[in-house]
Amino acid sequence: MCGIVGYIGKNQATPILLEGLKRLEYRGYDSSGIAVIDGTGASSIHKVPGKLDGLIKALNNDFPNGTVGIGHTRWATHGRPKQANAHPQVDCNGDVIVVHNGIVENYLNLKIQLQGEGHTFTSETDTEVIAHLIESSMLNDKTFEESVSNAATLIKGAQAVVAMHASHPDELIAFRLGNAGGLAIGYGSNETYLASDLPALLPHTSQVTYIDPGEIAIIQSHQVQHKSLDGKIINKVIQKAPYDEVAVAKGGFKHFMLKEIMEQPHALFQTLAGKVSLDPPEVNLGSLPFSDSEIRRLNRVVLTGMGTSLLAAHVGRHYIETLAGLPTEVENSSEMCYRNPVLDENTLVIAVSQSGETSDTLAAIEKANQKGCKQIAVCNVQESQATRMVNATVHLGVGPELGVASTKTFTGSLVALFLIATYLGKRRGLIDSDLMGQLLQDLSSIPRLVGQVLQSENEIAKLAQTLFQYENVMYLGRGINMPVALEGALKLKEVSYIHAEGFPAGEMKHGPIALIDREMPVIIVAPNDALYDKMEGSAQEVKARGGKVIAIITEGNTGLKSIADECIEIPETPYLLSAIISVVPLQLLAYHIAILRGCDVDQPRNLAKTVTVE
Ligand code: AGP
Repeated sequence: MCGIVGYIGKNQATPILLEGLKRLEYRGYDSSGIAVIDGTGASSIHKVPGKLDGLIKALNNDFPNGTVGIGHTRWATHGRPKQANAHPQVDCNGDVIVVHNGIVENYLNLKIQLQGEGHTFTSETDTEVIAHLIESSMLNDKTFEESVSNAATLIKGAQAVVAMHASHPDELIAFRLGNAGGLAIGYGSNETYLASDLPALLPHTSQVTYIDPGEIAIIQSHQVQHKSLDGKIINKVIQKAPYDEVAVAKGGFKHFMLKEIMEQPHALFQTLAGKVSLDPPEVNLGSLPFSDSEIRRLNRVVLTGMGTSLLAAHVGRHYIETLAGLPTEVENSSEMCYRNPVLDENTLVIAVSQSGETSDTLAAIEKANQKGCKQIAVCNVQESQATRMVNATVHLGVGPELGVASTKTFTGSLVALFLIATYLGKRRGLIDSDLMGQLLQDLSSIPRLVGQVLQSENEIAKLAQTLFQYENVMYLGRGINMPVALEGALKLKEVSYIHAEGFPAGEMKHGPIALIDREMPVIIVAPNDALYDKMEGSAQEVKARGGKVIAIITEGNTGLKSIADECIEIPETPYLLSAIISVVPLQLLAYHIAILRGCDVDQPRNLAKTVTVE
């Protein structure tokens, strides 16, 4: 949530900041702002409520002069989106200038205390206290760096902060506390860049370091010093960023969401690459540090995550129960971290997170760490918080996902979870070489089958025309396709703002059936499997009540084809893998419905790609 950029160097800062913010807008877009300082120490701050385009319009090509600056795109927590609450925030004199991602949990106490000392506040944000805290220490003869460190020790909660000072135009100071957001520093030639996320740095450099929680960085054009908050120097090795710029561009597609849906065959191939060999059949998960006897001693698995990642975890449960024979539970991370779950060192916790920065998921990982569990992260962002907190990571490797609605990372997570299940199953003696060969053959065909489904895009776009004016849509699925129904509904509500709910098909007659009438289309995910007949029964029950049925069916099906109003066909797939295929038409349907409704699919209202606040 919230995107932060910074620049210090030889070039004009404003165009660099604006370009960086454009690439981070998926993190929040309630308001945006920049501040730059010129050679004389004069600062200019420009900020507006609403999207970045509003700021660009307001600047009207009249960019403030200065080669050092910071910028911010906001996802509002404290104070509604309006100019006064946009970042940067400043102290009483406007000398200390701050951008912030996260929540200052004790801001109210600090604000009251600072007001008592005579500080005047102009916003409702928690961020503003940080600027005043820095000002307050500087008034007590502390240096700028000491004052920023001091502020970091006084505020509570997880956050990332960047501060600059009009009288210190040769440095930016940044720090992180806890697991909110990331901060990466990019190294150029006598210029240094800073951003919450790599896509904003990649046009300029691929040489990066990361600020870890509890660290502060003194950033100058020609050097960066990483320190702990108590002032000890930390030597960081400059690394090569794991993505290139081409991978984050839209590549000819109108929206990131569509690009990311369409690139799934290649993306899933990347998830498999290096992890699967067929002769002899084996899964290679590189860094898994658990011995075979530790794996045999496991007594259960807990899968956790939020949103789409949580729904991927629900599919993963089927994989682990079936292939590894382990009792498996799925826990919503935001609940798991506030319970006292019965976990021990023989429990394997698998945290699924595209970003690896979702604060609820990180809290669940922390809880599992306290209980001494073994932990694996299924994650798309290398070097993210989650990957550093667990014993091992299975990387999705699907490339950056910038559309706010997750698509390729859902299917990538399913592939990764399937691999983990087969890996465990083999070591627990449930999967012999023949079965492993069969499972991996089936899995290797998935990228091709997803490609086949994508060829139905025009048909799905036509179907969208029959659905886009409805205000409610129900999704039903059973077994491995139950979470797919929920994911289809989540995608639709996120990008089109249609009220959509997914249910286990068997649940329908226990309440949701009361909603069915001619105004309620019901999307039924019913590929050919052992549960197909039951799904056909659910379709009959909907039709009997005047509902409209849209069915996702296996090619060649005749039963549902004669009952449903509309059908989308998908290729035949083994039961466990069918969720990776059946979700794809639902992603495309949500996209096309949202486009027909004129919605901003890449930046849906109220959402942010990565939720780094609780
Ligand atoms: C899904 O389309 C959303 N982007 C959201 O539900 C997301 O899956 C959730 O916030 C978890 O994010 P993570 O995978 O980065 O942890």
